[in-house]
Order: sequence, then structure tokens, then C-alpha cells
Amino acid sequence: MNVKRLPASRLDEVVKLADRVFKPKDGSMGKNFPILFSKKNAHNILIVEDDGEIVSMVGMYYAYAQIFTSRIKVAFIGSVCTDEEHRGKGYATTMTYEAAQIALKNDAVLMMIHGDNDIYRNFGAVDAGTYFTIKIMPRYNSHSSAFKKAMTYDDLKKMAIWHSKEPVRFIRSFSNFKTFYDVGHAWDGQAKTFINDSAYITVVKKEDVNHCIEFAGDPNSVAMLIQSFSNEFGETMVHLNSNNKDCVSRLLSETPQRRKFHGTMRVLDKSKLLDQLKDYLDEAISGTDKGALVAKLFTFDDSDFTKIVFGSTESMPEYTSEIFPIPLPDYHGMDYI
Ligand SMILES: CC(C)(COP(=O)(O)OP(=O)(O)OC[C@H]1O[C@@H](n2cnc3c(N)ncnc32)[C@H](O)[C@@H]1OP(=O)(O)O)[C@@H](O)C(=O)NCCC(=O)NCCS
Repeated sequence: MNVKRLPASRLDEVVKLADRVFKPKDGSMGKNFPILFSKKNAHNILIVEDDGEIVSMVGMYYAYAQIFTSRIKVAFIGSVCTDEEHRGKGYATTMTYEAAQIALKNDAVLMMIHGDNDIYRNFGAVDAGTYFTIKIMPRYNSHSSAFKKAMTYDDLKKMAIWHSKEPVRFIRSFSNFKTFYDVGHAWDGQAKTFINDSAYITVVKKEDVNHCIEFAGDPNSVAMLIQSFSNEFGETMVHLNSNNKDCVSRLLSETPQRRKFHGTMRVLDKSKLLDQLKDYLDEAISGTDKGALVAKLFTFDDSDFTKIVFGSTESMPEYTSEIFPIPLPDYHGMDYI
């Protein structure tokens, strides 16, 4: 089997394959995921051909997760598919391992995968990350503050500034903000952003449920926007990470419920991950014996190490540390498109 990188000139062919598998009725993967399926990113998509026709693909692109003072390089994996007539030949499996090798060579230390199946589990990917939800019901006697749908270029500029002040986030270029804005999709659903003077929220409606998948800005304003949105449009599920959960849930008087990551992930190289987390760990570990901590961490395999460092809702290895889990942003927002 010959795994190739996709030439930009053949982008249309992989979009057609992905549409056949994921959007058999209507819709377009190319439109919903314009960064993944872009000419600029084409060489990060892996393909297998049969008789010159692309029959299997693994989509990949890179992002940086800012975690307080550290920045780690992440490879997002998604749109993994094989044409129905060519399944079971090991194409997706081989490309998943190949993608990990390529990602490692490009200094990515964590693979976040949009999916959970035997292929990823055999590869060592697990449920990880500490994510929460709160459900906000309309409160008709509560005060609804004014908000509007983000519509202008100036709104985008303000959003980028507020987003850049979040301590745990994916680094997002202004051009990616614009792409998100143009496409109006996130988490493979229709996304709308609402804004007031000091904050924004982004909401995706999926199967009739409103999901607030991202917010930034003044926490009081965020809470007000979420409540006002719920008062106007109905029950809203707010997605939180372990960094932003306390403030917003207290302001909205709701207890956060832990939820799984919508996919799987795996640390690709333990040493490299700890290197990229060095600035944060040096501060957090300062009162601890770093050598002993690292030595103990290295006794775990990559899957358990991933669970320890980022937390997991699955069975955890026996290990306790005040430093872990550390927060991770969720990529089911405006970043994986
Ligand atoms: C999942 C999928 C990509 C596998 O492609 P493939 O090239 O046939 O995969 P491989 O031949 O490498 O591996 C087949 C393995 O995947 C498992 N598998 C096959 N189809 C599967 C499916 N729809 N869901 C979960 N696992 C599946 C098989 O159990 C097999 O496991 P084994 O190695 O223990 O036999 C393909 O079935 C597909 O396109 N499915 C629809 C889209 C999808 O679900 N994508 C994954 C989420 S992004």
C-alpha cells in the first residue's frame, strides 16, 4: 500500500470521497471544513489510491494549544474515511500510524482525533481532557441584557482580542477567525455568534439542542449573554474546560457535569510533550521533586500518560499528583473546521 500526501490539485477528489461517506444526502465537507480542505493544508491530508482513484483519506492539520504559559503543538485528525468498496484492507489503520509519524516529525506532541473506534483505540488513543457542561434553562423573570448577532468586521476584531486573553485556548489567526465567520459552521453544525460590549458567545444547534461551544470576554457579560440567549432561544448546553468552568458556572448558579471528549487523543512523545509544557511545569512543579515526578510518569505507557496529564473519564492508572490533570481547550469549536 502506498500512502501519499494529497497534491493541492486533487482537493476536489478527497472532498467528493468525504461527501460520499459523511454527507450522503446533502451538505459539503469542503464547505464545513474549509481549513482542513484548503489548498494550503492539502499536503497534510494522507491518501491511498486504487488504480489512480483516491479511495481512502486521513485529514490532518496542526494547531497550537496555549495552556497558561506553555504552547503545545497539536495534530487534529478527522474526516477519516475509506470508500465502502475498499474497506477492511488496512488503509485507515496504516494512514493513522503514518499521520502520527509525520506529526511527530513536525513537532506535534498530541494527536486529537475526531472519532472513537477500534482503529484509534488500537493506536493507543483514549478518552482524555477535562471537559464539563452546564445546562441553562430560560428564566423568564431574569433580566435579559441586549445582545446582537456578530455581523461586522469590527465585531470580529473585538472577538479576536477577547479570545487572545483566554488562558487556555487554541491560537487562532485573524484569518482563521474570518474563515470561521464566512463559513458559519463549527462542530459540523450551523454556528451563530452573539456579542455585546464586552463578550461573545458562539452557539451551534445540533439535533435541536443549543450548544454554547465557545465564549470569551468579561465573565459577567458572558454569563449574561448565555442567560439572555437561553431566555430567547431556549435551553442551552454550555461547554466548559477545567480552566473556565468555575467562574461561568458560579455566575450562572449551575453545577458543572463532567463529560467525555467527543473523540479520542494520544500523546505522541512523552519527552517532547513535557518539553513543550516546560514553562508551565517549571512554575507548577517548583515545590516538587521534578526528577522523581518525571521518572514516575515515564513508567506509564502513552495511553495512561495521556490520561494522567490531561485527565480522563475512563478508568485511570493509579497515580496522584496535584499538578495533573492540566486543562486542554476543546477542538469541537471554531478551531476544527
Ligand atoms: C472507519 C473506516 C475509516 C475504516 O476504514 P478501513 O480502511 O476499512 O479501515 P482498516 O481496514 O484500516 O481497519 C478496519 C478496522 O476498523 C474497524 N472498522 C471498520 N469499519 C468501521 C466502522 N465503520 N466503525 C468503526 N470501526 C470500523 C474494523 O473493525 C477493523 O478492525 P480490525 O483491524 O480489528 O479488523 C471506514 O469504515 C469508514 O470510512 N467508515 C465511515 C466513516 C467513519 O466512521 N470514519 C471514522 C470516524 S472519523
